[in-house]
Amino acid sequence: MAPVDRRAVLAGAVAATLAPRPAPAAGACPAAPVRPSLATLASQRGILFGMGLTASALQQLPRLRAVALAESGMLVPGIELKWAQVEPQPGRFDFAPADRILDEARQAGLKARGHALLWHEALPAEVAQTRSPAAMAALVRTHIRTVCARYAGLLHSWDVVNEAIEPGPDRPQGLRRTPFFEALGEGYIDRAFALAAEADASAILTLNEYDLELDTPWHASRRAAMLELLNRLVRRNVPVRALGIQGHLAPGRPGVLKPEIFAAFLRDVASLGLTIFITEFDVVDRDLPAPVPQRDAAAAQAARDYLAVALAEPAVTALVTWGVSDADNWVDGNDQFRRRDGLPARPNPYDDAYCPKPLRGAIADALRAAPDRRVR
Ligand code: G3I
Repeated sequence: MAPVDRRAVLAGAVAATLAPRPAPAAGACPAAPVRPSLATLASQRGILFGMGLTASALQQLPRLRAVALAESGMLVPGIELKWAQVEPQPGRFDFAPADRILDEARQAGLKARGHALLWHEALPAEVAQTRSPAAMAALVRTHIRTVCARYAGLLHSWDVVNEAIEPGPDRPQGLRRTPFFEALGEGYIDRAFALAAEADASAILTLNEYDLELDTPWHASRRAAMLELLNRLVRRNVPVRALGIQGHLAPGRPGVLKPEIFAAFLRDVASLGLTIFITEFDVVDRDLPAPVPQRDAAAAQAARDYLAVALAEPAVTALVTWGVSDADNWVDGNDQFRRRDGLPARPNPYDDAYCPKPLRGAIADALRAAPDRRVR
């Protein structure tokens, strides 16, 4: 996304993501799942397709649940494994909401991924305020060991550190000054990956990030900082195995996707021996025209352009959408990204009547067109 002070954004956010909208007319769309599913199309190319959702959506929105189970090969808890949710106070853990999603995935034979061990948002106040290196090291150790150990062997991958990059004049390495960084310096990243690897030997340990794709000075500086960081981590034998690229598209905002720039970045990451996941794919429609047909068409086109580049790179082996249906989306709960005209956001592959949208078609077409990873 464009440069924003996400802490300020969250502070001002009206968290309405799960406020149910008026129920759409019954039977507006056939309940039968679209076939082949996105998971099937993806697996035919050696790609894993997944969807992010919340435990409450899973529980309260049966049609959302049905679509997610029909379309996905992997489920991702959207908030339940963040520090503030899973360990609301240091040493007090609450795994129940995350377990609801992970149990659902297991029962349906789907994979699951963990999001996110260390993130500067969604932190308990006590952690956010900690500055002493020893105290922060102890908090991080307990958090990662406990959460990773609980799910050891069960997760496809873990976002170990989320959104570490934030270039600026006072940040020569381009690293965000998170509470973890302030207390422990860049070494917090090494430490987090080492702890996660020790507790869970099988999850693919991932560094997850946003705003890496476009042809703008901001994205370019973030790409450079990310590549430098990955190089340092690999040189230090830090067990980072994947780069997660969030992929929140925002057509209509400044910046264009130049295929050769994005493709070169993906190649550079792959050449470090890393795999790449698109982890939070959706289309923020804040700056698209209001009429739904035009809006949906523009969102689908942005997705086509993006996925054509991303999925052409064989190192990209998973694609996860950050939502299922527009009935439950994070964008309307976010002051920065919701539409200025008050119309509900439409970032997801299914609309709020659970009809597949052009965006779903764009994802399906991109998966069909992707080179087959299985024959590498
Ligand atoms: O669960 C409560 C609910 O009980 C309450 O009624 C409601 C109203 O206050 O709030 C609900 O919690 C909200 C939660 O989403 C569930 O919808 C939180 O306040 C709100 O902060 C939370 O926002 C999430 C946000 O991360 C912060 O954790 C979004 O759903 C989630 O989509 C978003 O995801 C992030 C990724 O983790 C990282 N990349 C960017 C992405 C989008 O911001």
